[in-house]
Amino acid sequence: MADMLQIRYPATGVEAELAITDATIKAPDLRQFRIGEEPLATFDPGFMNTAVCRSSITYIDGEAGILEYRGYPIAELAEKSTYLEVAYLLLNGELPNPAQLADWELLITEHRMLPDKLRTVLAGFPYDAHPMTILMASVAAFYSFYPDARNFEDPAARDLNIARLIAKMPTLAAFAYRKGKARPYVNPDDNYGYCHNFLAMLFKQNERRYVADDRLVRAMEVLFILHADHEQNCSTNAVRSVASSGNDLYTSASAGIGALHGPLHGGANEAVLKMLREIGSVDRVPEFIEGVKAGKVRMMGFGHRVYKNYDPRAKIIKKSVEDVFEVTGVNPLLKVAQELEKYGLNDDYFVSRRLYPNVDFYSGLIYEALGFPPEMFTVLFAVPRTSGWAAQYQEFITDPEQKIMRPKQIYTGARTREYVPMEQRG
Ligand SMILES: CC(C)(COP(=O)(O)OP(=O)(O)OC[C@H]1O[C@@H](n2cnc3c(N)ncnc32)[C@H](O)[C@@H]1OP(=O)(O)O)[C@@H](O)C(=O)NCCC(=O)NCCS
Repeated sequence: MADMLQIRYPATGVEAELAITDATIKAPDLRQFRIGEEPLATFDPGFMNTAVCRSSITYIDGEAGILEYRGYPIAELAEKSTYLEVAYLLLNGELPNPAQLADWELLITEHRMLPDKLRTVLAGFPYDAHPMTILMASVAAFYSFYPDARNFEDPAARDLNIARLIAKMPTLAAFAYRKGKARPYVNPDDNYGYCHNFLAMLFKQNERRYVADDRLVRAMEVLFILHADHEQNCSTNAVRSVASSGNDLYTSASAGIGALHGPLHGGANEAVLKMLREIGSVDRVPEFIEGVKAGKVRMMGFGHRVYKNYDPRAKIIKKSVEDVFEVTGVNPLLKVAQELEKYGLNDDYFVSRRLYPNVDFYSGLIYEALGFPPEMFTVLFAVPRTSGWAAQYQEFITDPEQKIMRPKQIYTGARTREYVPMEQRG
């Protein structure tokens, strides 16, 4: 027998049984209750307790601190896979076998170049444009170059455009970075894998051949794997929402980039670094913590809507920090971060609110050690998140249950007022 929830509204005496599926009730089932003239609805700003889809891509148990892609624990993927393997997994549901991986890597390699005319788009930005705005506008512009992306019902066209976007994101990110540095663009090198090629496009100077330290390439792979997907977060919801009006992948991903740009989402690691710089030294940590407890500032990189335990990605990143610092030398801000973390894990303010370090707490330190300016940090999140957005986009448009997204509101404004002509307005 189906699991049922019994509800009775005493004011009208109406009783109903609502079916419970997957620990949810269907919000439209509440409409049978009338509150005066109005059908009963739910009020849920920020989607605190509302599921918008069924998804088989990413599993999170925030209480236990678990993150899995397609059922594989994140720590194992971060230790054993490459980013492109994980992207394939997210998109296809299974890890690739050697032949599938070779085909996938070749496809991505073939599509790394940007359309030539996009350089004109890039040239139009001011020299100090934030690279996220360049990314957002350029990804939206891809639709002008690849209008077949609207044929998303056709799996072949869909797959091609997904590969195009995943392939071009590092190139676009590297071009945005070099534009800010007034350095000439470096085209992709077919001899390198995804992450090594990215580092080369970013950092190659006059050397004939740029060769990155293996530990840095691996750290990049790990960071990319950790950032590949995170179920229904703000930017993924933006991607799905924009896709819901029948949009192509590029337009939808561009909306995701916009959402990611906010400091409460992808911009948090930039904010962490700013915070660490402002604190400056370990002896100033107690004073900063007092400010947090008094509600004057937030401890950036702490707390999460879903994780009420140590973010599993933060644990893995902490290990990468050590590997990267072996190559680049230790960033003195690390000591400040470690001291903050010590307070955060022991002080009752943080413990009682279940605030733990999240993925952004240490990632900014790695990015800085690798030589990135803070405005590139969110770009380094957007590049790998593209595979997650693409997988979520694909799932959305092939899901018969989905509709155009259109939440309800509770209207609180005036009604049916008499129009006031201009000459009578005070
Ligand atoms: C991520 C975040 C937006 C989640 O917010 P949320 O789920 O809406 O949680 P709330 O804002 O309701 O916070 C709950 C309580 O913890 C406190 N809190 C949450 N994050 C905090 C932080 N980083 N520092 C200090 N206090 C914090 C809030 O002040 C609130 O306290 P109160 O109950 O006394 O009012 C929030 O934790 C935050 O702003 N963190 C810093 C930014 C960040 O690192 N973002 C990256 C996320 S991956």
